[in-house]
Amino acid sequence: MSRTHRTHRTHRRHRTLLLALATVLAAAGGTTVASAGDGGTRAAAARVDNPYAGAKVYVNPEWSRKAAAEPGGTAVAHQPTGVWLDRIAAIAGGNGTMGLRAHLDTALQQRADLVQLVIYNLPGRDCAALASNGELGPTEIDRYKRDYIDPIARILADPKYAGLRIVTTVEIDSLPNLVTNTGGRPTATPQCDVMKANGNYVKGIGYALKQLGAVPNVYNYVDAGHHGWIGWDDNFAASAQVMHQAATAEGSTVDNVHGFITNTANYSALKEDHFRIDDTVGGRSVRQSKWVDWNRYTDELSFAQAFRNQLVSTGFRPGIGMLIDTSRNGWGGTARPTGPGPATDVDAYVNGGRYDRRIHIGNWCNQSGAGLGERPQAAPAAGVDAYVWMKPPGESDGASREIPNNEGKGFDRMCDPTYTGNPRNGHNMSGALPNAPLSGHWFSAQFQELLKNAHPRL
Ligand code: BGC
Repeated sequence: MSRTHRTHRTHRRHRTLLLALATVLAAAGGTTVASAGDGGTRAAAARVDNPYAGAKVYVNPEWSRKAAAEPGGTAVAHQPTGVWLDRIAAIAGGNGTMGLRAHLDTALQQRADLVQLVIYNLPGRDCAALASNGELGPTEIDRYKRDYIDPIARILADPKYAGLRIVTTVEIDSLPNLVTNTGGRPTATPQCDVMKANGNYVKGIGYALKQLGAVPNVYNYVDAGHHGWIGWDDNFAASAQVMHQAATAEGSTVDNVHGFITNTANYSALKEDHFRIDDTVGGRSVRQSKWVDWNRYTDELSFAQAFRNQLVSTGFRPGIGMLIDTSRNGWGGTARPTGPGPATDVDAYVNGGRYDRRIHIGNWCNQSGAGLGERPQAAPAAGVDAYVWMKPPGESDGASREIPNNEGKGFDRMCDPTYTGNPRNGHNMSGALPNAPLSGHWFSAQFQELLKNAHPRL
């Protein structure tokens, strides 16, 4: 066990003790945090170090039904997946869909210990892409606070739910976009420049962390992109800094951040076994290969662990834990390499050995060849609280052609298999599956492919 790991665990135990002490003091001061949950007396415990440890995680019946209705789907339909609050109306639900309270009540019925929510409705959402543009315009920060975050926080604070550990993953893709897709960079978009200039991503996240973090049984995890995005020197420290800025905006503090999540709804392989960042071929480093392209990381696990350290040195608590979304990064099936590529040159070596079969690591929409990854599990590696399926497998990343809708969703050519790319994917083909529905809608063909290419196998 590495030194870093020992330090990490010691700090985490320390924090748990402090939190336990705080609860005892609060109780002694007359603040009661006990509740009568599902007919019993489940008390709100102090936040634990790793909320996933020993926890039964809520299975979203809406996703589960869709998965089970697919041929072969019952093999995974019992797995926990994230509940995406992707618009204001998702809080109340209705029209046949479950709202937030319905999910939490069902979690109590399931006798689950932990529920996974995705907070995803920032003003000017998805500024570097179109597929998941949302309902709020770039300036609608007040609506975000009042009509989205406040109602969610009120529901989560209901004493009825005090016995649940509520994991909130906060605003996927937003802060990394402020670093990599702004300013003079060739990857910049006008929309990301607007969101950087008006500060509404940073303010929105600070506000969300503060309001949600005020609920004692909420565990905030901030989105941290993935290695094929933040793993370059230009992006790594700068991203940690923006995350710190957001975590301390609008009266929030780093104490509202329990950890970070990487690879949400992305496809980056968890571990590449057949090539390592320090390998050289014919005197050239793996970092010089086209695929790695000077990145410092070859896979998600090494990135998540290193980025955790970076975040701590930027001012986050030493006890923070990482989540990694492994819903679609399995890359199994017949195309999965069983050994390293030929040592003829560094490109042949990396391309022949890599599990991640994407055309380019910047490809993100409905990737052809992808499979389900590691099943959700607690504490799988040092510094990692859990592998999770935050993106529900089978839900589209975006439509492969223009589809009129009232969800604010645009048509992003990265979801069109005939598209030849842009600066953000090095002008490569998109690698997307054809005939995809709008983001978030059920995409049976993709689900089938994910089952077929699952790794570990089902
Ligand atoms: C969509 C959301 C959806 C989520 C989960 C996102 O890409 O924009 O509407 O809830 O994926 O599938």
